[in-house]
Amino acid sequence: MAIFTVAGTGSPGVSSLTVGLGLVWPRPVLVVEADPTGGSGILAGYFRGQVAHCGGLIELAMAQRQGRVADELPQQLLDIPGSQAKLLPGSRSHSQAASLVPLWPALLDALRDLDATGQDVLVDAGRLGLEGSPRPLLVGSDVTLLLTRSTLPALVALSSWAETLREETAGTPTQLGLVVVGEGQPYSGREVADTLRVPLVATLPWDRRSAAVLSRGRGTFPRRGALRSSLDAAGAAMRSFAASGQRRPLTPLQELLARSVPKVKVGGLQ
Ligand SMILES: Nc1ncnc2c1ncn2[C@@H]1O[C@H](COP(=O)(O)OP(=O)(O)OP(=O)(O)O)[C@@H](O)[C@H]1O
Ligand SMILES: [Mg+2]
Repeated sequence: MAIFTVAGTGSPGVSSLTVGLGLVWPRPVLVVEADPTGGSGILAGYFRGQVAHCGGLIELAMAQRQGRVADELPQQLLDIPGSQAKLLPGSRSHSQAASLVPLWPALLDALRDLDATGQDVLVDAGRLGLEGSPRPLLVGSDVTLLLTRSTLPALVALSSWAETLREETAGTPTQLGLVVVGEGQPYSGREVADTLRVPLVATLPWDRRSAAVLSRGRGTFPRRGALRSSLDAAGAAMRSFAASGQRRPLTPLQELLARSVPKVKVGGLQ
C-alpha cells in the first residue's frame, strides 16, 4: 500500500490523472484533492458540480486543531461511483490556503495509518509553488510524481522544480518519478526523463475526448480507448515503482525536516 502524490506546472492534467487512476485502480484507493487553489476542480469537473461541496479538507483543518484528523477523515469522504475510489474534496477557496499549512503533516500521518486498511492514496497536489502547497506530502509520500507535457515550454517550466524536488527527496524514502502526458509532442518520454533527470514511470497519450470526461464530466469514461488502457498501465507501473523502493526508516533529522511546518512563502516550496 502506498501514498502517491502527483504535481506539475502549468495545468498538465494532474486532476484528470488522479481521478482517472482512481476510476481504474484495482483495489480501494483514496483520492485526496490537496490542490490549494480552492474551489475543488474535481467536484466542479468530474462531478460536474452535481455534488455539494460541504466538507473535505477545511473540516480536517479544523479537526487538526483538536488533534482529530484521523478520526474525522472517514466522515469527509465521498464515493466515486463505479470505482473502488473515495474522494477527499479540496478546500473551498484560495483564502483557506494558510489554514491548510498546519494540516499537511497531520494529514500525512493519517494517510499513512490507512496502510493498515489496505488502501492506497492518490494525492492531487496541484501546481507546484502555490501558497499552501502540500510540501510535506510532496517530500513525504512513498512516490512523488511530476506530471508534464512533452513540449519545450513545459520542460523549461518544470526543470527547476525537478532539480529542487530531486534534492529534497534525495536520501529520503520518497521516490521521485515522472509521468509524461502527450508523449511524442514532440519529445519522447525517455528524452523528457533524461532532460529532467527523473526516472520515467509512465506515459499517457494525448486523448482529448477521454480527458474531457475526467476533467469536465463530459460523457462516460470509455471502457476501451487510448487513455483508459494507458491509465491501467500507468497504475501498474506506479505500484511496481513504489514496491521497488527501499523503505528505509527516516533518520531523526529527516523526520524533523519532513514534519516541520513550513513558513508560508508565496511562490516557493518552503
Ligand atoms: N491525456 C490528455 N489528453 C488530452 N487532454 C488532456 C489530457 N489530460 C488532461 N487533458 C486536458 O487538459 C486540461 C487540464 O486538465 P486538468 O484540469 O486535469 O489539469 P490540472 O493539472 O489539474 O490543472 P489545474 O492546475 O488547473 O488544476 C483539461 O482540459 C483536460 O481535459
Ligand atoms: Mg487540477
